Amino acid sequence: MSNNGEKRRPIWRDKETGSIKIIDQRRLPHELIVVDLQLVNDCITAIQDMYVRGAPLIGVTGAYGVYLAVLNFPTQEIEADYLISECRRIKAARPTAVNLSWAVDRVYDKLKHISNKDQAISVAQQEADLIAELEAENCRKIGAHGLPVIRNISREKDGRTVNVLTHCNAGWLACVEYGTATAPIYAAFDAGIDVHVWVDETRPLNQGARLTAWELGQQGVKHTLITDNAGGHLMQHAKVDLVIVGTDRTTFTGDVANKIGTYLKALAAKDNQIPFYVALPSSTFDWHINDGVKDIPIEERDPNEIKFVQGRKAGKTLSVLISPADSPAANFAFDVTPARLVTGFITERGICKASAQDIKQLFPEKSKR
Ligand code: MRU
Repeated sequence: MSNNGEKRRPIWRDKETGSIKIIDQRRLPHELIVVDLQLVNDCITAIQDMYVRGAPLIGVTGAYGVYLAVLNFPTQEIEADYLISECRRIKAARPTAVNLSWAVDRVYDKLKHISNKDQAISVAQQEADLIAELEAENCRKIGAHGLPVIRNISREKDGRTVNVLTHCNAGWLACVEYGTATAPIYAAFDAGIDVHVWVDETRPLNQGARLTAWELGQQGVKHTLITDNAGGHLMQHAKVDLVIVGTDRTTFTGDVANKIGTYLKALAAKDNQIPFYVALPSSTFDWHINDGVKDIPIEERDPNEIKFVQGRKAGKTLSVLISPADSPAANFAFDVTPARLVTGFITERGICKASAQDIKQLFPEKSKR
C-alpha cells in the first residue's frame, strides 16, 4: 500500500544483503523507521516488543525467522535439533496469533529433511517469500469478497455514507498488503462508494489511533478517531452501519480472539442489530480448538503498557505515566468473541457463517483432520 505515494510493505527481504527489513511500528505514525533483522533473536524481539504486530504479519516474520535460523547456522550441515529448537523459540514469541505457528511449521516442514545449508537457505527463503505473497493475495481476495457487503449497505442507504467501525489495526501494516478488516473498506473506496471509518483508539498501545488512522489517512479514506468506549453510543444513534474487525485466532467453531475490547463491540452490535463481520485469511483459523473462550491462550503483556502512554511533543516521542506509580495493572491483550455474536467471516474463499459446518464447507480439506 502507499505511503506518501510510495509503495510499501511492512516486511521485505533485502535481496542484496539477505537481511529482513521491517517497518518499526512502535514509532508510527510520527516516524517511519526501517529496521534490519539479521538474527533469530532480532526476529523474536521484533515480534515480542511489537515492532511488527498483527496476526498475518507475525506469521510472515516468523517464517523469515526460520530463514534467518538456517542462514546463520555456523557449518554446512544443519543440525535437526538446532532447527527444531529455533522454531520452538520463534513460535513462543507471542501466544495468541495462530499464524505464527502456522507459518513457522510451514517453513519447517519444507526443511526437515534437508541438512545441506545452501539448499536449506534457498528453500527457507522461497517458502517465506511465498507465505508473504500468499497472505498479500489472501487479503486482496478478502477485499473482493467483502466489497458486496459494503456495496449492499450503500445501496440500501441510497448512496449515503456507509459508516464502518473497526478496532485495533487490521490493515496492511498488520498483514502484508490491503489488511484484513480494511481490505473491503479499501475495495469500497476504490469502487467509489462513500465510506467512512470509526477508528477505535485501541488502548493501551493505540494501534487504532497510531496505525489505522495513519493508514486510512495515507489512502485518503474518511475516518474519525473515537475512544474505545464510544462504539456502543454511536451504534445506539444509528451512526454505525457495520463492524469489521480482524482476528488473531479463530476456532473452527467460529469463536474469535482479537484485540481486547472486540467482545464488547460485538455485544453492542448484537444489541443494536448491526452486522458484525470478522475478516481473516485461512492461516488465522485454528483447526484444533473448538472452545475459544476456554482454550485460546490470551497473552498478558507488561502492565507498564497501561500505566504509561506514548505521545509526541516538540518533535520528540515521550512516554508519560498516567496512573499512580504503584497502582497494579493487568494487561490482557486479547479477548474472545463467541461465534453467536459474529454475523459472518470474510475469507479469501468467500463469506461464511460463524459455525463449524459453514466454515468447513468453505475449507473442506480441513475436515479431514
Ligand atoms: O497486539 P496486536 O497489535 O498484534 O493485535 C493485533 C490485532 O488484534 C489485530 O486485530 C489482528 O491481529 C488482526 S490483524 C489483520
